[in-house]
Amino acid sequence: MVLKKTLAGTMMLVGMIMGLMFVSPYAVPIPQAQEASADTPGAQAFASVCNTCHSTDRIRDYQGDKSWGEIITLMKSFGALLSEDQAKEIEQHLQTTYPRDKK
Ligand code: HEC
Repeated sequence: MVLKKTLAGTMMLVGMIMGLMFVSPYAVPIPQAQEASADTPGAQAFASVCNTCHSTDRIRDYQGDKSWGEIITLMKSFGALLSEDQAKEIEQHLQTTYPRDKK
């Protein structure tokens, strides 16, 4: 009887730990390896700067009417840290990767 209870307790603990393992990757906003195809300076700067606060999905799925230049200026006002050169490189990268009609 005592042994069975201990076993049940152990299984519950294992279950809880496994559950945490599934939850934790979403709780911690670590830059994703999915930007591994980054080979231009713009793509690299984008990967290291732009997904620190939100995922790149947020950017890929953007349907608003701001240009990428305006978006980058907006992100700077939110606290994104990037140099003038990086801003230009990222804008170039975004325009190539996710072309937008509006200038
Ligand atoms: C300091 C944190 C931070 C960084 C770094 C950052 N953003 Fe954002 N971003 C935000 C916040 C805050 C919002 C608004 C909240 C939201 O919609 O998630 C946002 C929203 C967005 C949106 C959606 C805007 C809309 O109107 O729907 C886009 C596109 C975007 N960011 C692009 C970028 C790009 C490109 C970069 C890299 C240059 C970047 N972000 C870096 C904080 C950041």
